[in-house]
Amino acid sequence: MLRSGIYLNGPQTRAIEETLSSYLGVKYAVGVSSGTEALYLILKALELPKESYFLVPSFTFIASAEVIIRAGMIPYFLDIEESTYNLSVGSLEDAYKKLTKKRKKVSGVLAVSLFGLPADLEKIEIFCKERELILVEDICQAFGAQIGDRKAGTFGIASATSFYPTKPLSAFGDGGMVFTNDEKLAFKIKILKEHGQTKPYFYEYHGQNGRIDEIQCAVLQVKFKYFEKELNLRKKIVEKYLEGFKDLSSYLKLPYFPSGYKSSYALFTIRTKYREELKKFLQKNKIETGIYYSLPLHLQPVYKKLGFKKGDLPVCEKVSEEVLSLPLYPYLRDEEVEYIITTVKSFYQKF
Ligand SMILES: Cc1ncc(COP(=O)(O)O)c(C=O)c1O
Repeated sequence: MLRSGIYLNGPQTRAIEETLSSYLGVKYAVGVSSGTEALYLILKALELPKESYFLVPSFTFIASAEVIIRAGMIPYFLDIEESTYNLSVGSLEDAYKKLTKKRKKVSGVLAVSLFGLPADLEKIEIFCKERELILVEDICQAFGAQIGDRKAGTFGIASATSFYPTKPLSAFGDGGMVFTNDEKLAFKIKILKEHGQTKPYFYEYHGQNGRIDEIQCAVLQVKFKYFEKELNLRKKIVEKYLEGFKDLSSYLKLPYFPSGYKSSYALFTIRTKYREELKKFLQKNKIETGIYYSLPLHLQPVYKKLGFKKGDLPVCEKVSEEVLSLPLYPYLRDEEVEYIITTVKSFYQKF
């Protein structure tokens, strides 16, 4: 790639777009500079009514809501299912009813598949079709996941993934991709990521630089060869954790995987009332953990003016006080997994 001297918009980008679109079974893939830009470019290209509402779970990474505002719309936050941490269809129905009763325009839903587990995309797809709402999927954490035979990322009009270094399929830096079967949408996104240029130095749209670089695409081509194997390695580690922690079920809530759902196991997230103590204890024993996410988006200072308050989305609020993600990556060794399990168990021995 370096010898070719083509660093952008070259054969590596085209090759990875082709590889990943055929993996997902969609007609078009557009490589972009990050998962955030992938989401934003989808919403921008859709040209949805300004000031309309776009429904999004509150328990997700901030990019999922940020892009709605950048596209000129208003995020409306939804609660989640306590078992899966993905958006609750009940909350979706309530929000839609509430907004339409007040004669607010609702444009669509951004369904996030969190921690690798697909959201209830079959129900969400039907809900959106029945109300003529646009469904966009955020599969930044769930590339490779599926429900039955259908891959996450193929339910909505378009989906966005991220190649951020911690994601199941990751690059050596930033990168992202849009997937869609809609030819016009794919074409528009390709133009928008090139400053809105439709022929050399001729601009029909207000665009941006949203390109992915050839180095990342070359890296992704190599890493993709190991992707399925790595998903299986992640799965094996998750199974070891589930088995190892099964006696702690009165202290720990373990992740739940509905039958027929295949996760890409981006994160192994447990819940405990003693989160801070457990985190400190593990740190002392040289085990790094993460908190995704400690404050739901509807309570973030930046979204204060949207009018949500504490108590509005009780499941998100409760869960965000208890979640803790344990180490999970394909090359975690058996003895390391064992050490993590015994260390967590030793923490609960004092109870
Ligand atoms: C759910 C979710 N949405 C969007 C993003 C944004 O992706 P990126 O970091 O590539 O911009 C991420 C990644 O961090 C994510 O986890």
